[in-house]
Amino acid sequence: MRIDILTCLPKLLESPFRESILKRAQDKQLVTVQIHDLRDYTTDAHRTTDDYAFGGGAGMVMMIEPIDRCIQALKAQRTYDEIIYMSPDGELLTQSVANQLSLKEHLILICGHYKGVDERVREHLVTREVSIGDYVLSGGELAAAVLSDAVIRLLPGVLSDESSALTDSFQDGLVAPAVYTRPAEYRGWQVPPVLLSGNPAKIEAWRHENSLDRTKKRRPGLIKED
Ligand code: ADE
Repeated sequence: MRIDILTCLPKLLESPFRESILKRAQDKQLVTVQIHDLRDYTTDAHRTTDDYAFGGGAGMVMMIEPIDRCIQALKAQRTYDEIIYMSPDGELLTQSVANQLSLKEHLILICGHYKGVDERVREHLVTREVSIGDYVLSGGELAAAVLSDAVIRLLPGVLSDESSALTDSFQDGLVAPAVYTRPAEYRGWQVPPVLLSGNPAKIEAWRHENSLDRTKKRRPGLIKED
């Protein structure tokens, strides 16, 4: 997989991709993440990426030209499955959206700033718009990092224990069960004895029951009503 991220604040995006699982996925060449500074696609001496809104009003608007020039340069090199604009009014990022995107080969993510992008970017260049939640961030960079993390960890070979992405919260529509590690007792607080029983069938049954209980209590909206 390859993810190209278009931003006017490239530094904001560097560290999430330099650590831990996202770094290892790139080192293993399971994913290429390329961050593009939109200022490199401007044509004026000031390297301008934003301008005043037509019709007036507070806030700057990101210009279409640097975004289009960057997209065209990338499209000349490969075909993209999705060109995604990160926006608070986009489709909500869920595990199901992450699963769908993890099956794609080439993605472009566009990070908005200020009052957003010139609407023509959304009308003519973008194939999909994704929000990471019903709140407004200062820009799309952190949202792009969140989406990339949710997608990259699903790629085969990225997690050392292949099964661990499958047992994540939400993967089967339930939140994950409680987990414990040593010591088995701490300040009198006990680990559920079944987890120490060594009986795999009983442990599996307990985990499933615990997942169901927790989902009902914490996220009742996830339980499908037939
Ligand atoms: N840009 C600003 N807020 C955002 C959000 N909640 N999701 C995606 N992109 C954003």
